[in-house]
Amino acid sequence: MNILVLNASPKGKNSTTLQTALYLEALFTEHKFTVLNVGQKIKVYEKDIQPVREALINADIIMFSYPVYTFIAPYQLHRLIELIKSDGVDISGKFATQITTSKHFYDVTAHKYIEENCFDLGLKVIRGLSADMDDLLTEKGQNEAKMFFEQLIFSCENNIFVTPPSVPEKKEKSIYRPSLPESKKNKRQGRGNCYKLRRG
Ligand SMILES: Cc1cc2nc3c(=O)[nH]c(=O)nc-3n(C[C@H](O)[C@H](O)[C@H](O)COP(=O)(O)O)c2cc1C
Repeated sequence: MNILVLNASPKGKNSTTLQTALYLEALFTEHKFTVLNVGQKIKVYEKDIQPVREALINADIIMFSYPVYTFIAPYQLHRLIELIKSDGVDISGKFATQITTSKHFYDVTAHKYIEENCFDLGLKVIRGLSADMDDLLTEKGQNEAKMFFEQLIFSCENNIFVTPPSVPEKKEKSIYRPSLPESKKNKRQGRGNCYKLRRG
């Protein structure tokens, strides 16, 4: 399968997160990996999105690879998604997943953000891998990455993906209605009270 790795770390080739994608590329040689350093080159793609568009069209699986920075995906990835959406390239029906590294602080929020944007783009979402920044250095972390990838390929081959949560039906707005009948106001009585108050 053609796997497009969108490396959104501003560190480019020196990204810790990217190492997981490269590790998988080395392990699963039957698949073709293409890496775009979108994090470092976002200014270039702002001027010309054509290389990203082409890579997206040629991909079977779009793999977002990014670190969690300040509770969310790096701004370069936010911008890239904006550019893809405004370009209007049709990538619906393709598979999408994500790999992150972080200290697991708000990684869930970042994953949700990417998944929801994938739904917007009509992509078939497969749950991603949220690794700790040191995971690839341990055997356990390497196994988790390997299992994630095997699961990813199995899901693609069997067309298993996450569907967007259904939008709840709009409920009728509840409006406050007084339960007791309104009593008639006596204008004179009202003025009188006012007068009394001032004097008191
Ligand atoms: C400025 C900055 C902000 C970060 N914010 C978070 C965060 O909010 N949550 C978290 O779990 N890790 C956070 N981290 C840790 C990174 O996600 C982690 O170091 C990651 O592996 C870096 O990946 P990269 O080398 O691919 O850019 C932050 C790191 C930096 C430098």
